[in-house]
Amino acid sequence: MALGFALLACADRMGVDPDLKGEMAESVAAVIVLAAGAGTRMKSRTSKLLHTLCGRSLLSWALDAAQGLDPERLVVVVGHERDQVEAHLNDIAPTALKAIQEQPLGTGDAVRTAMATLGDIHGEVVVTYGDVPLLTTDILINLVAAHRGADNAVTVMTAVVDDPTGYGRILRDGVEVVAIREHKDATAEERQIGEINSGIYVFDADLLAEGLTHLTPANAQGELYLTDIVAYARAQGSRVGAYVESDRWATEGVNDRVQLATLSAELNHRIVESHMRAGVTVIDPKTTWIEAGVSIEPDTEVWPGTILRGATSIATGAIIGPDTRLTDCEVGERATVLRSEATLATIAADANVGPFSYLRPGTQLGPGGKIGAFVETKNAHIGAGSKVPHLTYCGDAVLGEGVNIGAGTIFANYDGTHKLTSTVGDRAFVGSDSVLVAPVHIGDDALIAAGSVITADVEAGSLGIARGRQRTIAGWVQSFRRRGGAGASQSETKE
Ligand code: UD1
Ligand code: CA
Repeated sequence: MALGFALLACADRMGVDPDLKGEMAESVAAVIVLAAGAGTRMKSRTSKLLHTLCGRSLLSWALDAAQGLDPERLVVVVGHERDQVEAHLNDIAPTALKAIQEQPLGTGDAVRTAMATLGDIHGEVVVTYGDVPLLTTDILINLVAAHRGADNAVTVMTAVVDDPTGYGRILRDGVEVVAIREHKDATAEERQIGEINSGIYVFDADLLAEGLTHLTPANAQGELYLTDIVAYARAQGSRVGAYVESDRWATEGVNDRVQLATLSAELNHRIVESHMRAGVTVIDPKTTWIEAGVSIEPDTEVWPGTILRGATSIATGAIIGPDTRLTDCEVGERATVLRSEATLATIAADANVGPFSYLRPGTQLGPGGKIGAFVETKNAHIGAGSKVPHLTYCGDAVLGEGVNIGAGTIFANYDGTHKLTSTVGDRAFVGSDSVLVAPVHIGDDALIAAGSVITADVEAGSLGIARGRQRTIAGWVQSFRRRGGAGASQSETKE
């Protein structure tokens, strides 16, 4: 169920709707993803394309949309910060071809580089950008369908926007597109046009290959403009059409961190909404961040300030938050996690975590177990019904079932060189403020007296006690004060 929903949520985003795929009778010959630009406005040492939204890089979102089209070949044009981008590509899309654009001479030059990598190619070529994360496969399928339906040689995806400043404008003659004019090259009159070029297209490969050889940098920016292919096609008597995309987010690129945050919020909003529609109660969608790979079963509650990351899965009946961040965690049915931080932890059914717990990798809390306030765990297996309720460090520990760990217990797992493991048997009881110096084994039903520093094994059913014996000295305080000792009251010292 959990996985089912994950796929559903992703399918929604990636557009792998099987019905729509059916309409794409033939796959396109290639998709070219342009990703060689500099992205200077991010002001980052990290390539813009590696910045993430909702848990995945910009490039990964862009490739998802492209790969969903199932093209015969996929080529990514890399250039700026190429080492970083190529290494990332090897991780996320190892089969994608890479074309290297040595100098950023313009979008026309970038596509020319890709076409050289593709070699002899016929059919349809789709061009998209690596920095447009909300574009989906569904939209690309619609674009290709429009291209085929109108029998175009070029189809441009356009959008009508409130502020077209900076974009290429669409010059039309009825349904046909006559040319695309870059903002910097446009007349005052052309700048009034609100329909803009998204930069996403379908081309007939032969026309594209031929047109690219005719591009010149005779324009305001001295670049080779891919957009000039439109006028070239028209001059050849070929048909150029537009596909107007109404989802304004789908064609929007990320150029700076403000846009990254804006698009992240929109994508998050869509993910959170899809969970709500699938039966998850989200108290405050605005402060809830759920990454794309997270799965949540119905009849769960997510409270404000919760961040669910990576491959986290939440089973039905669970209550998460407020103010909780879970990364790659598994939460069982009816479990609760309140005001806590956890990474690579498993929380079984009916278990309770928090408030203020810190679960580090390798924490496995058994059914009905508890990790409570100000408890840190790491590589800790805590058996069914076992409780670590207060102020404890529990690292490298294996606890059986029904164990109770008293407040302030420390599993001293590090001898300065090695990490060592301690074990605690079923139903054992560790009194408050004890230190278990690893490696020690506490047997089933054993009892550790409060305040003990345990350095040797304690057998099953035994009492382990390791602390100074208490002395009580009758009348000591009075005699101490009589001698004028510290702590005597002021009236007494005046006497
Ligand atoms: C381009 C379009 C413009 C459109 C806008 C949409 C051209 C000439 N103009 O404008 O009509 O409205 O996109 O956002 O195509 N890139 C390379 N190599 C290069 C240059 C760019 O790979 O040499 C890549 C960039 O990484 C980016 C994409 O191409 O992903 C677009 O580049 P960008 O400079 O943002 O395009 P604009 O000139 O703004
Ligand atoms: Ca841009």
